[in-house]
Amino acid sequence: MDKDILILAIESSCDETAAAVVKNGSEVCSNIISSQIDLHTLYGGVVPEIASRKHIEKINQVIEEALRVSGYELTQMDAIAVTYGPGLVGPLLVGVSEAKAISFATGIPLIGVHHIEGHISANYIENKDLEPPFICLVVSGGHSHLVVVKDYGEYEIIGRTRDDAAGEAFDKVARAIGLGYPGGPKIDKLVAKEGNPDAIRFPRAKVEENAYDFSFSGLKSAVLNYLNGCRMKEQEICVADVAASFQQAVVDVLVDHAMHAVKQYDYKTFAIAGGVASNSALRKAFAERCKAEGIRFCHPSPILCTDNAAMIGAAGYYEYIKGVRSDMDLNAVPNLRLGER
Ligand code: KG4
Ligand code: ZN
Repeated sequence: MDKDILILAIESSCDETAAAVVKNGSEVCSNIISSQIDLHTLYGGVVPEIASRKHIEKINQVIEEALRVSGYELTQMDAIAVTYGPGLVGPLLVGVSEAKAISFATGIPLIGVHHIEGHISANYIENKDLEPPFICLVVSGGHSHLVVVKDYGEYEIIGRTRDDAAGEAFDKVARAIGLGYPGGPKIDKLVAKEGNPDAIRFPRAKVEENAYDFSFSGLKSAVLNYLNGCRMKEQEICVADVAASFQQAVVDVLVDHAMHAVKQYDYKTFAIAGGVASNSALRKAFAERCKAEGIRFCHPSPILCTDNAAMIGAAGYYEYIKGVRSDMDLNAVPNLRLGER
């Protein structure tokens, strides 16, 4: 390509206000993330109204910082990519309105990006030679999808959760054992230090009709029942053992289902994405299984797994070179489906 393509990317679908400048889809010139975690910790989860207000407060600052760190001027941007769904409607609207305002004022083209497409595209940033087709497991706070990435922007969802997302299960179990919000990183950290993953045998659910689907609500109930049983019998609860045994059950199910899909579809490359993909036990388990089976395993750095704007810039780049542009009527779509525009 003759000319570098510079994308200013904006992400505000949940509780991170983020902006990045990405060159040619994979060179991250800046990646600024303003997290609201401390604010929501008080309430044990994300409060949408508070999140929206905080995004409004932070978004200009975060964009200015992303441009400053990148060393580029706004006028040098070839496009503005923004997450327009799925996510929380108020938070999404802040990012979309901001991106539309900048695009309108400067004439820089606007590109609406699917949040999950962003998570998947985070893999292109550090694996410069990664190309579709491959299979990707997307595990975040809102989604647990097994996706065949057929081409850039072309996806087939072959498995999904029937109830809770993997990250949601982590967050709920963490709350039940008193670790607080956000549960995933807290469980991960605790288990890395202590805890026996074989201490308690929690169920590994299979969904009869589709071997690639997931179900985590039974596991969550099993943990809650175990805790209640201990309390009734006045037995001491070893929080680290419960956390480790729960995490192991999630990891086993995710690895088994995903590797089954990789084999059945006969792909040689497998990737993970989303907040839960930063889990150290999950990464280790996939690394081992993929190595044993001769499969290439791609995984973004943890900072690119959880919500960020660099991944939106990567996804936006592939949309840009395909000629995709959004109009001024771009709106937030809280339940946007993958592969839809
Ligand atoms: O992708 P993400 O940042 O936001 C959504 O799009 O949902 O994912 C957030 C989820 C939360 O449920 C959080 O607990 C989980 O990812 N998570 C983790 C870890 N880091 C974040 N779960 C397990 N282990 C982690 N290290
Ligand atoms: Zn996300």
